[in-house]
Amino acid sequence: MKIITSIKDQADYCNSLVKKGESISLIPTMGNLHKGHESLLFNPSYMKNKKIVSLFVNPLQFNSSDDYKSYPKSINSDIKILERNNVDCLFMPSEDEILRSISESESFALPGYMNILCGKYREGHFLGVFKIVKKLFEIIRPSVAYFGKKDYQQLIMINHIVKEYFKNKIKIVACDTIREDNGLAMSSRNNRIVKSKRNIASLVYKELVTLKEIIKTNKDYNFKELQQSFIKTLSIEGIKIEYLELLSSNDFSVIQKNDTDNLMLFVAFYISGVRLIDNIEV
Ligand code: PAF
Repeated sequence: MKIITSIKDQADYCNSLVKKGESISLIPTMGNLHKGHESLLFNPSYMKNKKIVSLFVNPLQFNSSDDYKSYPKSINSDIKILERNNVDCLFMPSEDEILRSISESESFALPGYMNILCGKYREGHFLGVFKIVKKLFEIIRPSVAYFGKKDYQQLIMINHIVKEYFKNKIKIVACDTIREDNGLAMSSRNNRIVKSKRNIASLVYKELVTLKEIIKTNKDYNFKELQQSFIKTLSIEGIKIEYLELLSSNDFSVIQKNDTDNLMLFVAFYISGVRLIDNIEV
């Protein structure tokens, strides 16, 4: 596997691939790879493409410097995972070079729906993701890029970037959330939670599944009441719910009574001081 650390070398490598008629698949990551990432690497679509993984812990998308500093890093095991999955190239740029390459004068307009859910609670987060993903697309020029559905709001924003800046020429493959046996959605942040607490964290997913069943089977459900009981049940377990919302999965608009299509439950919560998110289609 090729490891490239400079923007110019990466752009040259990608240009040479494109000139040879190769197509590129990009899997953007912040490292500390787990089975969820492996499912992106292993995705059967576009197998013939050259696989490039970027590893960059993006300081622009953390709204707390403690969160940024404590973001888990495991570069040696990451490289082993990438090699095992036949990745052709790892792009691991320096923070300094990437930040210098992002123009301060360029304005980035986020769609309005990026101000709700995580956008409401993590100021600047999506703008940070927006800037780095756009930069990675410009350097690597992939024809396909893979993103997980766990970060659903991010996924919808990436579709917007591709439409507005790349004339829809990059195919975005949305990959299912991979879960631990107990149901907890895989995340690099899970490593910061002891095992017994991870089991407790998995109760959030179990409660989401119960909620989904109630919504599907009971036309007269009162979401405010369901929300309150969800928050109460989980607070007894030491879980603090930041938000629980039932919205349209197309554009995050509020659900009208009797809407049954494209409904999604979104949750963010804290356990042992670690913030996690999850979602489930209803
Ligand atoms: O989902 C992530 O890991 C990050 O937000 C991404 C897309 C790599 C951008 O830094």
